[in-house]
Amino acid sequence: MTRNRTFTMIKPDAVQNGHIGPILEKITASGFKIIALKLKKLSIEDAKKFYSVHEGKPFFERLIKFMSSGPIVAAILEKENAVEDFRTLIGTTNPENAANGTIRKLYATSLSCNAIHGADSNENAAIESAFHFSDTECF
Ligand code: CMP
Repeated sequence: MTRNRTFTMIKPDAVQNGHIGPILEKITASGFKIIALKLKKLSIEDAKKFYSVHEGKPFFERLIKFMSSGPIVAAILEKENAVEDFRTLIGTTNPENAANGTIRKLYATSLSCNAIHGADSNENAAIESAFHFSDTECF
């Protein structure tokens, strides 16, 4: 199978609660190679741009406020079947329904504060990676 790349963010709740280390450990132990990594804070404008696909939805304002409330960790990851395998590793959007052992089951506290993001397609992984990283920041 071809190696490909996905994009992730460890969200402000998981960063604030001290889960960066355990989450990165779980990601690398699951076979993902870190291609790019940074700790950064999203401005309200950044968050609105990144989540523009959700504009107009009832949870949009809450999502923007949350995602700009504190630092996040952005990363590009590489593995065979990266997008699908990463979404399996993080679990369902709502942690209440997430499988045991998934990152959201372990570290998320609610649907709004669900610890981690994973791109949902190869196309979106490329778009989201380019939003956060320049070519010279990827290895
Ligand atoms: P994620 O899929 O990473 O990116 C969009 C986020 O919006 C999603 O995680 C959830 O955290 C959030 N979200 C999705 N649906 C809802 C909802 N119904 N209520 C609150 N937040 C939501």
